[in-house]
Amino acid sequence: MPLLDVQDLSVVFARRGEKPFTAVDNLSFTVEPGQTVGLVGESGCGKSVTSLAIMGLLPRRGVRVSGRVLFEGADLLALRPEDMRDRRGRDIGMIFQDPLSSLNPVVPIGLQVAEVVERHFGRTRKAAMVEARDLLDAVGIPDPQRRLKEYPHQISGGMRQRALIAIALACKPRLLIADEPTTALDVTIQAQILTLLRQLVVDSDTALVLITHDLGVVAGLCDVVNVLYAGKVVETGTRHDLFANPRHPYTHGLLGSVPRLDSPRGERLTPIRGSVADNIPWAEGCAFAPRCDRVNDACIGDTVPLEAAPHGRLRCTNPVPQEVGV
Ligand SMILES: Nc1ncnc2c1ncn2[C@@H]1O[C@H](COP(=O)(O)OP(=O)(O)O)[C@@H](O)[C@H]1O
Ligand SMILES: [Mg+2]
Repeated sequence: MPLLDVQDLSVVFARRGEKPFTAVDNLSFTVEPGQTVGLVGESGCGKSVTSLAIMGLLPRRGVRVSGRVLFEGADLLALRPEDMRDRRGRDIGMIFQDPLSSLNPVVPIGLQVAEVVERHFGRTRKAAMVEARDLLDAVGIPDPQRRLKEYPHQISGGMRQRALIAIALACKPRLLIADEPTTALDVTIQAQILTLLRQLVVDSDTALVLITHDLGVVAGLCDVVNVLYAGKVVETGTRHDLFANPRHPYTHGLLGSVPRLDSPRGERLTPIRGSVADNIPWAEGCAFAPRCDRVNDACIGDTVPLEAAPHGRLRCTNPVPQEVGV
């Protein structure tokens, strides 16, 4: 049984007097225990809304969530809010993009980590502080004993993200959802944080859902990658298959707009033309069609289904040809 089995998850924002907007559209994907799964797609494709829906953190008013989010077989969407609160942190930890706004500015770092340990494991403050120090140490914060007493504004962005990871790992969740965990950080720090995340999930056998707009981030980390476009999966594959031979023109384009170390010098990056604003609704065909170089008549009219493909799943009527030998 998968650890997480998201089935036909849809999120519709429907405010009174406004046209309903489908941010997540019948999304399905699974995460096996210990696996690292990527959700990749450009800004606005529904990545954060998906993670918030899984965590039960979307507001109730003006939002319709449907489908199933099975965690070890039990549907999280059917839980009462207080039961979900209990599972959050303990079963599923979450790391957000912006470490400064996710930390409490008026509480020292050590106490923020310790409080989680106290609440979830019923430890005394003293014992929890010892664990907090060990956790800060484990995420590579130097001189953790001294850092315990420091406030978020006193440490760097990279250290704050490490502190957030420590908080998320404090309850030893079996699943960690990291939503653009490195987007707000310098490039050099990004690599460190990703390496750390990878090491932590491998060491503790935690499954990881890594959400990013940056395929380069996924390259070194994910076992399986789900590519999202306008709230739907357009392609799924193992990291190797997807990078060696992307079949969906959107995935192909995403890879074409990532700098590669092995490309010949002077070769230009190929951006994907147009923007998300050019989307057509999925009900009228493929949402990516207006931006696609391979568009044909079959792309317009009906929703293009997501179908099993040799390398995973694919939603495309005219995919990039399979490369021989891949
Ligand atoms: N509270 C909200 N009300 C209405 N629309 C929203 C709300 N939150 C997000 N959206 C819309 O849902 C879409 C997906 O957003 P999001 O999941 O944040 O994208 P991303 O993939 O960049 O994380 C976007 O078009 C966004 O404008
Ligand atoms: Mg987001």
